[in-house]
Amino acid sequence: MSIQTVGIIGAGTMGNGIAQACAVSGVNVVMVDISDAAVAKGLATVSGSLDRLIKKEKITEADKAAALARITISTSYDDLQVAQLVIEAATENFDLKVKIVKQLDAMLAPEAIIASNTSSISITKLAAVTTRADRFIGMHFFNPVPMMALVEIIRGLQTSDATHAAVHDLSTRLGKSPITVKNSPGFVVNRILVPMINEAFFVLAEGVATAKDIDAGMMLGCNQPIGPLALADMIGLDVCVAVMDVYLQEFGDSKYRACPLLKEMVAAGQLGRKTGHGVYTY
Ligand SMILES: NC(=O)c1ccc[n+]([C@@H]2O[C@H](COP(=O)([O-])OP(=O)(O)OC[C@H]3O[C@@H](n4cnc5c(N)ncnc54)[C@H](O)[C@@H]3O)[C@@H](O)[C@H]2O)c1
Repeated sequence: MSIQTVGIIGAGTMGNGIAQACAVSGVNVVMVDISDAAVAKGLATVSGSLDRLIKKEKITEADKAAALARITISTSYDDLQVAQLVIEAATENFDLKVKIVKQLDAMLAPEAIIASNTSSISITKLAAVTTRADRFIGMHFFNPVPMMALVEIIRGLQTSDATHAAVHDLSTRLGKSPITVKNSPGFVVNRILVPMINEAFFVLAEGVATAKDIDAGMMLGCNQPIGPLALADMIGLDVCVAVMDVYLQEFGDSKYRACPLLKEMVAAGQLGRKTGHGVYTY
């Protein structure tokens, strides 16, 4: 199946990034969120991001206009019926995602594929609540989506080869380099990355080094483009805690416990860049 129109649930950080990546690659988009304000904000973010690409002479004004013309925004799931693929990129919450995928399953064309951009929830479990488990898959994009080359394509136990092939083909058309991953908590990249970030908070809490020096150490010593604490601020400290909690529960191994300092900062509302205050102040 060739995918011409992609539906996106959620116009937040990931949803609007996925919308931009699709639209600049010639794929039509229907982006849905729960309020007019949320979809308008998502579209404004895409517009601002395209403006920055124009400034860098990566795209022209005409490219921007063409990309924006491919994006429809809506607060109604009914508008997703034209899509061959719907990517769920709503808030990371199991009950919410179950509700959304059931709702999509009930109203999409029978052949349509549903993908989830979840960072930590089992694709096999989400697939199982639908009547199209063979047409359910994980598409795990990375932040910021327009810049990051990787998509982890996660096959649930029930995902068919045809579904995998269609989503792999789309990912390549979006200019991404997909890797195929078996469903398992954290998939590949976050399974390794988030515990490393969590460890950086333990190192910070123990006073082993300052935040700046921890980040400098990992950048200069491991060639990482950004330190783990600055990266936590980008991802959102609340997201980091939620991901660790899932690993702890799923693997039943205490090595995955979230650092108390990280949890304390989340309790204080210091969630990183999105609140203007995390490990660093913005
Ligand atoms: N932020 C990251 O770095 C990152 C990276 C990879 C994957 N993810 C995953 O992507 C998903 C979205 O994360 P995000 O960072 O974009 O979150 P976000 O909070 O920026 O955006 C989530 C959006 O979903 C909307 N939403 C909530 N309920 C909805 C519903 N019923 N219908 C439609 N929209 C609804 C919210 O209004 C919000 O705009 C999560 O599953 C997250 O784990 C995030």
